[in-house]
Amino acid sequence: MKNIAIFASGSGSNFQAIVNAGKSGVLVGNISLVVCDKAGARVIERANEAGVETFVFSPKNFESKADFEREILQELIDKEIDLIVLAGYMRLIGETLLQAYQGRIINIHPSLLPAFPGKHAIHQAIDKGVKITGVTVHFVDEGMDTGPIIAQRAIEIEEHDHIEDVEKKIHEIEHELYPTTINYVLHHHLQ
Ligand code: GAR
Repeated sequence: MKNIAIFASGSGSNFQAIVNAGKSGVLVGNISLVVCDKAGARVIERANEAGVETFVFSPKNFESKADFEREILQELIDKEIDLIVLAGYMRLIGETLLQAYQGRIINIHPSLLPAFPGKHAIHQAIDKGVKITGVTVHFVDEGMDTGPIIAQRAIEIEEHDHIEDVEKKIHEIEHELYPTTINYVLHHHLQ
């Protein structure tokens, strides 16, 4: 089975969904590592509970992105990671990782890209008054949420929806879409 590293900065509900998909046999890959750039993030606790090793670092302790990405890369090589899965990792991937993992880094984003890239995508969609938004899984390139799209699902924003309602709909879709899309990538792009 291929080895997966999940990069996350926050709650890690997508990490959890991927772990659960692994337990139930839906995901055909090993979750070998969590990389986290925020000490104290909930995802670290979740990784410990799931028995997944973590590499936690603080970007401010490094002079540059290249410096911390070299350390991450060493971890990825040690663990023989095949695929990098970004799940709420709120940082652009730099040259070091992009070159080493060309075509083997994917991201999930809470909008129908190319609409609403960057931070606070759900807020952006509500502020614009769109009636349909959704979730995108895409390959990562050097841009902000710009790489080739692999999968998308739409949801409706209804008149009476508050931000929490839209977040809930988005997360439900993400938790289902990400594990199956990871499988698809493992089968079709990493053979
Ligand atoms: C997810 O909704 C993901 O789509 C988003 O962060 C959230 C992380 O939630 N990612 C981005 O906005 C990337 N630009 P989680 O930590 O509960 O998985």
